[in-house]
Amino acid sequence: MKISVIGTGYVGLVTGTCLAETGNEVLCVDIDENKVKKLQKGEVPIYEPHLDVLFERNIKANRLNFTTSLKEGLEHGDIIFLALPTPEDEDGSADLKYVLGVSDDIGKLIESYKVIVDKSTVPVGTADKVKEVISKNAKVDFDIVSNPEFLREGFAVDDFLKPERIVIGSSSERATELMMKLYKPFVRSGNPIIVMDEKSAELTKYAANAFLATKITFMNEIANFCEIVGADVDKVRAGMGTDSRIGKRFLFPGIGYGGSCFPKDVKALYKSGKDSNYDFGILNAVIKVNDFQKKILIPRIKAFFNNDLKGKTFAIWGLAFKPETDDIREAPALYIINELLQLGASIKAFDPEAMPNVKKEFGDKVEYTLNKDDATISADALIICTEWSMFRTPNFEKLRSNLKHPVIFDGRNLYDLEEIKSEGFYYSSIGRKT
Ligand code: UGA
Repeated sequence: MKISVIGTGYVGLVTGTCLAETGNEVLCVDIDENKVKKLQKGEVPIYEPHLDVLFERNIKANRLNFTTSLKEGLEHGDIIFLALPTPEDEDGSADLKYVLGVSDDIGKLIESYKVIVDKSTVPVGTADKVKEVISKNAKVDFDIVSNPEFLREGFAVDDFLKPERIVIGSSSERATELMMKLYKPFVRSGNPIIVMDEKSAELTKYAANAFLATKITFMNEIANFCEIVGADVDKVRAGMGTDSRIGKRFLFPGIGYGGSCFPKDVKALYKSGKDSNYDFGILNAVIKVNDFQKKILIPRIKAFFNNDLKGKTFAIWGLAFKPETDDIREAPALYIINELLQLGASIKAFDPEAMPNVKKEFGDKVEYTLNKDDATISADALIICTEWSMFRTPNFEKLRSNLKHPVIFDGRNLYDLEEIKSEGFYYSSIGRKT
């Protein structure tokens, strides 16, 4: 099939590449000329495991191409994916200026029947708005489909190629048939393609993300309470998670959820509720608890150093909002760095992928090291913010001799309590005994 993808951000690039992988002819459109030039040369602008291999293969096979011309994109594809950003507006709602701006251009440019598919995370009712905007100028038939994506950063290629489910919001049989044909190769295992109306599809995405964020936040509160009453959250998690109604996944407490999706989507759903005079009490609580959780290590660090962090140096392992990505959007590490700098401390940080992005934000206020061990040399304590695998089995002897004090504040519960105790560390983690 002929597919166009408008927007070559994270979602657009993964979508375009994976759709090319199953033999479709894909043309990706972006207004950023520099980016398009790089993509045409075969450079992948983001770090996402396995994407580079698929990308190269499909460019070589001439199934994956790039252009800055929306007109060309609209001529090429029978199905046009909109993978445009929906950033957080000042009031927390999703800003639709890109989605509606491009829709307006589409209305002026389409010359034959197209299925316009919204892949961006958009508030309920956006499909109707897109339809209205395109209809203003369009002289031909078109259909709008809402097809939210459920990709996790770090696993996006796998999630796209082997989805647990595909959600299609469509009220047109013709469009639904085309979408089913497109996605059939991805659900050979029998996983479902769930067809529903556009509004339900739009809400499904927000509901799924908000539920997962709530699940994590609930566990973060249980962890905090464990510390107060002397329980161990690892044991509570094991005891709870074996109930299949609860499930084992997304029960890991930590220093709050981050990333480009959960924080933005929870706030946007809360705001959508408000706009419809519905008070999502639970989401309001989730937002508040998560803000608190992101900084939960700070009072502990302050208490350990008698409220005087001036002149202290902290090693930070992990800057990305989670492992296997270079994405630092809403990463807890950024909040912690900010607070520590304000309190007069210095930071030596290491992350296998995210340091260039942090440098863009903090410049030379943070020292970046070549490896994880260098970050700990002469630091007063180690703070762990992201659970990269390489941090799980450090050489404790080296760590002890590098650090000024054998002290670890672990926001990701990486180490076994008995082991770390026997190694002689003061160890503060989340929801477990100190
Ligand atoms: C999330 C969803 O998982 C995807 O299904 C969705 O498609 C995507 O948002 C999106 O809307 O585009 P992602 O943001 O890549 O994916 O990251 P997750 O792996 O879900 O992690 C989100 C945050 O939750 C991270 O900060 C992570 O550290 C935290 N988390 C996750 C926990 O604190 N505990 C857990 O048990 C799991």
